[in-house]
Amino acid sequence: PPVQRLTHHTLEKYENIWFGIAVVMSILLAVAVFASFLTGTAPRLEGEGGGGHHIAGVTNGRINPKNFAGTPFATPGLVTNPDGSIDAFVVARAFAFDPPVLKVPAGKPITFYVTSADVLHGYYVEKTNINVTVMPGQVSSFTTTFKHTGTLNIVCDEYCGVGHHNMLNKIIVEA
Ligand code: CUA
Repeated sequence: PPVQRLTHHTLEKYENIWFGIAVVMSILLAVAVFASFLTGTAPRLEGEGGGGHHIAGVTNGRINPKNFAGTPFATPGLVTNPDGSIDAFVVARAFAFDPPVLKVPAGKPITFYVTSADVLHGYYVEKTNINVTVMPGQVSSFTTTFKHTGTLNIVCDEYCGVGHHNMLNKIIVEA
């Protein structure tokens, strides 16, 4: 009967409208993701050829997780470069961060290089927006300035095994 056909057409019309909205949303998402990569707001890995300086043993953000010899990750911690810039090298391994306590100066930009010696970890610094994924074979890099002195907890926020919940270390921001 004609009435049923009319109903059917109405439903089809709404289906098409919603399908159109879904397509538009998908396109907007793709554009947003692409734009974030272009503007550098998306997390990215830096190394030689990235925004960071040249680091021995690190090529295009890649490193051998089984052998840190000859790289700054062999002796993790703070390094002051000849030009005065400050780097922090951190190694994540089950189930601690090395160095266990990282002392940093307040008010100075510090470029972090974080890598893993074994499995996937997370490097989340409480009370900050620092939260990077740490992968074996990759060096994650970011630059930050700690404005206030005090102690901040570093928490592994990627499940990495039985000791995951104990993977807590500290950053001490000094004057
Ligand atoms: Cu390391 Cu969870």
